[in-house]
Amino acid sequence: MTYDIVTIDGDGIGPEVNQSAIEVLREACGSALLNFMPFDGGAGHYVKTGHVLPDETLNACRNAHAMLHGAAGLPGVTYADGTEVGNDLHLQLRFKLDLFANVRPIRLYQGVKSTLADWSAGQIDYVIVRENTEGLYASRGAGVNLRNELVTDTLVMTRLGVERVAKFAFDLSRRRNGAPRDHQRRVTVCDKANILKTYAFFRAVCTEVAQSYADVEIDYAYADAITVHMLKKPDFYDVIVAENMFGDIISDLGAATVGGLGMAASAELGLNHGLFQGAHGSAPDIAGQDVASPIATILSGALMLRWLGDRHHDATLSQAADRVEKAVEDVLAHGDAVPHDQGGHARCTEVTQAVCRRLR
Ligand code: IPM
Ligand code: MN
Repeated sequence: MTYDIVTIDGDGIGPEVNQSAIEVLREACGSALLNFMPFDGGAGHYVKTGHVLPDETLNACRNAHAMLHGAAGLPGVTYADGTEVGNDLHLQLRFKLDLFANVRPIRLYQGVKSTLADWSAGQIDYVIVRENTEGLYASRGAGVNLRNELVTDTLVMTRLGVERVAKFAFDLSRRRNGAPRDHQRRVTVCDKANILKTYAFFRAVCTEVAQSYADVEIDYAYADAITVHMLKKPDFYDVIVAENMFGDIISDLGAATVGGLGMAASAELGLNHGLFQGAHGSAPDIAGQDVASPIATILSGALMLRWLGDRHHDATLSQAADRVEKAVEDVLAHGDAVPHDQGGHARCTEVTQAVCRRLR
């Protein structure tokens, strides 16, 4: 079987890191298994054509097996309401393809220095599951602006939206080996249930879902408190489930504890579609210099292989995912090529070649 993968390079460092991941995935799977189909999208495309996500790209995404994306967004390319155009590529894909679970692994790899003192590889290994289609983001483009005096964005939660992301989080915990500290399968519900009824609703629905997962412990943390716990006891966490905006914020904090956004992979999953991209931005200041780290996008490619392998019961892909992750681990652990964001001088192409060498 051949898998059609729509690739969208995007803006800034997007093309470099996306092409790096494609080279690694080809090395891991051979050129017959994955059919990469490049399509346009992003702020640069918007400047040229007025479309951040052209119809032909969206239609190709609807029909493909998966999507692999570099990064999107250029400074100064904004809509009249002040919001960024580039981000609309992700947001339109999330809402139009209903990618309701934004899966963000937070894992400290051998060879990567944590900003947290005294934590070593294996001790920080959890996943943030960010609800990706509602919450405060439901107001994107729908907020109110009265006479430029009163502006509102509404926080929206639905029972369907909370139930399905909570079930995703509990099911994910069942597929893992528990928190590093105690190997306890645990889902931590991150909210502000003490203050807002929307978050009290989020917590209540997650608690209802937990009734069907007696083998998985449910844990609760307010969004402010969890930022302290993520720094003081990162080994306590297995899976954290959070509303859209909170998930956006704590996933960057989590990434910062395991080497930074250059290490931050993401899988944005719906029932029928998967978008895989580094959780970083387009870093226009270093674009085109071959200095960006491709690790986040390569690890996102591994998440894509694993997701496709599970969906299509294709062991070849699942094994390829394991090999790509192992190759990245070995490159970092042995210092074959240390990316700039990890204190090294390896170029994007050199990191890519080092991962491909490990795969061979
Ligand atoms: C992320 C980014 C996006 C978000 C932007 C690019 C739309 O910050 O994926 O974390 O705000 O969700
Ligand atoms: Mn973000």
